[in-house]
Amino acid sequence: MAHLSLEVRLGPPLIVAALYTLGFCRQMAVPSIARVIHRGGSGDIMRETRARNDLSLNFFGRFLRSGHSSQAGRAAIAELNAIHARFPLQDHESLYTLSGLAFEGPRLTRRLGVRVLSPEEERSNYLFWAGVGARMERILPVPPQAEFWQWTLDYERENYAYSDGGSAVVEALLDDFAARLPAPVRPVGRRLLISAMDDRLRSTHRLAKPPWSDRILALGTRAFVLSKAVLPDPPDRSWADRFSAPQRAANLGQASNRESTRSQHATPRLKREHRGARGQAG
Ligand code: HEM
Repeated sequence: MAHLSLEVRLGPPLIVAALYTLGFCRQMAVPSIARVIHRGGSGDIMRETRARNDLSLNFFGRFLRSGHSSQAGRAAIAELNAIHARFPLQDHESLYTLSGLAFEGPRLTRRLGVRVLSPEEERSNYLFWAGVGARMERILPVPPQAEFWQWTLDYERENYAYSDGGSAVVEALLDDFAARLPAPVRPVGRRLLISAMDDRLRSTHRLAKPPWSDRILALGTRAFVLSKAVLPDPPDRSWADRFSAPQRAANLGQASNRESTRSQHATPRLKREHRGARGQAG
């Protein structure tokens, strides 16, 4: 069901990229996560923003297309575990990242006063990401849906804070999203995304609320919902096809920063798996 609703029915690439960008901006409001991603400016996201983003979306598509328990899904999650093993992630940070995948879409549309997913689709989205979480390493156990949502809000209250690194990543992410649009509308696309942030997120990143954009965003979302109600659903498709696993510079994904101590302790097996994984993923 998650594949049909997220990838087929509601998955035009621009909408997917917008929600992904918003979710990523949330992670960057937690300074300890931002530090691992930014790595003093040397993180993949700073050096090859588009490649890093598309590779993540390609991974998510691989989970969604065939399911987290399928052979392909399990292999993709194992690849991800091997990539993460090189970095100093904390279990609570991974759970917070997962909450963005489970809740960001419904959270935004609720704020805009429209309903895109039915309660069953929201539930299946939660169950899907909880299933991914169950197969990931170094993550807290995923709580039941309502408890997880409350945990997310509490986590944000306690952990959101401005950091220079987080802010630099947010700028790179907004630029990369805007660059997916035709040149004349790039500034509008950027403003719409900032407008899609809630007040807490926007103020954490010290971004000003753009005038008028809220209304345009609400109108655009309503038009999208209406089009979904009247137009036929597209044929089968996956984020994994739309967002390719790109060729990247050989040294991307290296935990070369001083904060990243864990990579030095990764077992030879994990190091081997990681090299294999990156070879496949490009
Ligand atoms: C459920 C939680 C998470 C999911 C689903 C997830 C997903 C992913 C995916 C799909 C990639 C592959 C993309 C690539 O290698 O370019 C990736 C890489 C990476 N992730 Fe995560 N991630 C999670 C949590 C975290 C957290 C909490 C941190 C940091 C504290 C983190 C840090 C990284 C890093 C450093 C990379 C390597 C690429 C880079 O340097 O940016 N991840 N993650």
